[in-house]
This record gives sequence, C-alpha cells and structure tokens, in this order.
Amino acid sequence: MTDRKDHNWPWPNMSAETLLESARTVAKRAYAPYSRFHVGSALLTADGNVVLGCNVENASYGVTICAEMGAIAGMVSTGSLSPVAIAVVGGDSGTPCPPCGACRQVLAEFNPDMLVVLESPNRVTVVSVNELLPLSFSASRLN
Ligand code: THU
Repeated sequence: MTDRKDHNWPWPNMSAETLLESARTVAKRAYAPYSRFHVGSALLTADGNVVLGCNVENASYGVTICAEMGAIAGMVSTGSLSPVAIAVVGGDSGTPCPPCGACRQVLAEFNPDMLVVLESPNRVTVVSVNELLPLSFSASRLN
C-alpha cells in the first residue's frame, strides 16, 4: 500500500519501492557500533543516478555522519547538485525513519521540493522536504 498524499512520482524508471530497497541494502553497510541503529539512504538525482549513503559513527559520538548527509556528499562528488528524491530506512523493517533535523536542513539546501520516501507498516510514505521543514532558513535569507 502506498500513501503518497498528493505527491506525484514523475520518474517512470525508478519506483519509490526500488529506491527503498536500495536504502535497505546499503543500511547493512552502516558503521554503527555505538547505537547499533543502521540507517541507509538512496538518493535519486535529476539525471537518473542513484547515490547511496549509510551512517558512519565515531567514538567521539558528535562527529557521526548521518546516512542522508553521506548520500548528499556523494551526490556532490559525482558532479550533481540536483537531488529529486531520497529514500531513508533505519531500524526495524516497516518502521519509519524520518530524517533528523540537521539532515532536513542539508536536504533543503539542494531541493526543498525533494520527495522523501519512508517505510511504514505495509506501506510506502512519500512526503516533501518542505513538509518536513517548513519556514526553513535558506540562502534566499542571506544578503
Ligand atoms: N541517523 C542517521 O543516519 N540519519 C538520521 O536522519 C537520523 C539518525 C543515525 C545517526 C546515528 O548513527 C544513529 O542514526 C542513531 O541516532
């Protein structure tokens, strides 16, 4: 079952479900010995590439890199600045893993209209970054 609210999914070659599967696969590669909470993300770019990310923890806990930030960094390194959707999974299968506040800000930097695909029991949930981070701070506020 899919809960997409009023969001279109205009990418015929990449389904939200396939993006979630890629995120689930890369979550297995997370380095999370401290929290044991494995997060994976699969980011779709405007040119149809998929960039993966997983969380990378550190003994100095505060310098942990979230899965979404890893995917964004990977995207930039490929030469793309245009993410259109990102699937995020973490923890038990079927439970939503919404991006943390810092990740929402990082996603909004590149595309506030980006769609975020989440798992929830027996369904796929699609929301926009705008919905997750309303009234966000952005470059438009800088002089
Ligand atoms: N984590 C992410 O990778 N992304 C998020 O959006 C939320 C949290 C990671 C950080 C840490 O390694 C673990 O999940 C538990 O907080």
